Amino acid sequence: MSFPVSLPLSPFQRLGRLIAGVEPGRPPIDVSVGEPRHPVPDFVGPVLSAALADFVRYPPIKGTPAFRAAVAGWAERRFGLAAGTIDRDDGVLPLNGSREGLFHATLTAVRLAGSAKGARPAILLPNPFYAVYAAAAEAAGAEPVLVAANLEDGFLPRFETLPVDLLARTVAAFHASPANPQGAVADLERLNGLVRLARRHGFLLFSDECYSEIWRGRAPDGVLAAALSVGGDLTGVVAFNSLSKRSNLAGARCGFAIGDPAFLRSWAALRNVTAPQVPMPIQAVAVAALADEAHVIENRRLYDLKYAAAAEILGDRFPDLVPPGGFFLWLDVSRWGGGEDVTARLWKEAGVKVVPGGYLSASGADGINPGSGFIRIAMVESVETSCEALSRLSEVLS
Ligand SMILES: Cc1ncc(COP(=O)(O)O)c(C=O)c1O
Repeated sequence: MSFPVSLPLSPFQRLGRLIAGVEPGRPPIDVSVGEPRHPVPDFVGPVLSAALADFVRYPPIKGTPAFRAAVAGWAERRFGLAAGTIDRDDGVLPLNGSREGLFHATLTAVRLAGSAKGARPAILLPNPFYAVYAAAAEAAGAEPVLVAANLEDGFLPRFETLPVDLLARTVAAFHASPANPQGAVADLERLNGLVRLARRHGFLLFSDECYSEIWRGRAPDGVLAAALSVGGDLTGVVAFNSLSKRSNLAGARCGFAIGDPAFLRSWAALRNVTAPQVPMPIQAVAVAALADEAHVIENRRLYDLKYAAAAEILGDRFPDLVPPGGFFLWLDVSRWGGGEDVTARLWKEAGVKVVPGGYLSASGADGINPGSGFIRIAMVESVETSCEALSRLSEVLS
């Protein structure tokens, strides 16, 4: 089946094609997918079993009051907002993982904009990008505008450099900090600038913050604090987050959007007849997870160990390989033949499955694919397995 629009295959489908029919040279290690494999926190089982009876009920689309209060309270503590800043009724929406939320939010934004942004509204995205941003723009009938996020820009997109007429027809901009795949983090000043730009041109800022709790050094700032520090309220901004990375619960499919109450109210109305709800026992897990920081601190400790090992094993060839956020290594392997070549060799010679960077990005208006020289390695396995994968990579690149 093919789509009427130019939707690319998922990076993982493309990876499957690249290595189809090739036997792995050693027992396989898969570090291609950003799925944390650290243990499920201890409290999840007891909370789920206590809430089991609620599986018989259809959950409310806006979540339980306890869920919304837990999300709002966590975000206020985490991002240094005054208690009560986030609207407990309309300022939080549960999502079946943040991915479907990013998709549906885009459909809603374009629909709400109507003709106000002209016949061909634009959606801005960084390049490389998380695949759903482009798919959502295409599905909404908007033009996905790729803005390169290269090393010289600190791996963050410079939306402020775009022509004014393009910004004027922009409905929403996706921004990810910490970024996938590069792990770049936008500081508060940069986020403030983005909020100002969005407000000046009347577009929504969709801030993808699902890696916000996986960091080294200093906890990343978020768009909610930026919106308030620029002045006013949360109008025009939505932060997306989830339990997937913070709490090793990718399979629970529980995310949330926080921000502009007017937008979230309209979006909830559409979701009420279209979107998947989050089961109430899973919402109970979220309440417990957001009240607990111990498991998050332990996660960061494990990632720290893996990054220290990566610096030891690969640091001579990749001096700046430890990013401030996220759990990926984004390695420029151009001098070894580029992302696809190295990915294919790694699988064939060493049984290590990574993603070619070019599959996480696309050619921009200049015809350049900014990810094609890179590979992405997810540091999600145990410390031992991750070290084994990195040692094999080191051999292949020697
Ligand atoms: C940048 C980014 N945003 C959003 C998501 C979606 O995560 P989830 O739907 O599990 O919340 C991912 C998952 O890998 C991601 O990498």
